[in-house]
Amino acid sequence: MRIGVFDSGLGGLSVLKELINKYPNNEYIYVGDNLNVPYGDKSIQELQVLTTKIINFLNSKDVDLIVVACGTISTNFNFRSDKVIKVVDATINYVNNNYRHVGLMATNRTIESNYFQKRLNVVVDVLKTPLLVPMIESGKIDLSIINNYMASFKDIDALILGCTHYALIKDYLPFKVVDMGVVLANSLNLSNDGVFKLNLYFTKVDDLTINNVKKIMGEYTVEECIL
Ligand code: DGL
Repeated sequence: MRIGVFDSGLGGLSVLKELINKYPNNEYIYVGDNLNVPYGDKSIQELQVLTTKIINFLNSKDVDLIVVACGTISTNFNFRSDKVIKVVDATINYVNNNYRHVGLMATNRTIESNYFQKRLNVVVDVLKTPLLVPMIESGKIDLSIINNYMASFKDIDALILGCTHYALIKDYLPFKVVDMGVVLANSLNLSNDGVFKLNLYFTKVDDLTINNVKKIMGEYTVEECIL
């Protein structure tokens, strides 16, 4: 099976890794649109144009399935095709079945979409955390940013990482976390009878991109793509 996975940058790699762990015998094509990161502060119109371009790119590679590994895109758009899976829905089901009081941190656009708030039937404390994606893309951890945000959450059973980037810093978070990539991989039942292949495309490839990808994925070639 050929599976396309996309995000605004590095975040979707946290989802890709979980999919590869669980279903290694597939071909994966990843697109990180780091030329346009962060998505969380863009207008709906801009996001629509970027999403269409990425989906067209993945379709030109003949993918059988597209995983929207971005909370911001998943919560702001509907996709008519059965071939497209949003990263957020498995997490919403999982949380409804397992917790009573959760924190949700996500990008401005995700929180403003109210997608999680409308579908979760547990107590949810929400927080916009727009400084995290730029911090993660910069390749440097700033504990003062993280700890400031974390101070907002009290008495929660778990913290939903509503943006896939945040799974990349989960070791720095003082709560039990709900990692959307883990939940998604566990909820799917993909075939696993092909041969592993991975192509990693980013819309901007420089030393920072190469180093960041290496830290997360290990030794893979990073290709530049024009959407
Ligand atoms: N990983 C994207 C998400 O899940 C990040 C959005 C952004 O680039 O701001 O929301």
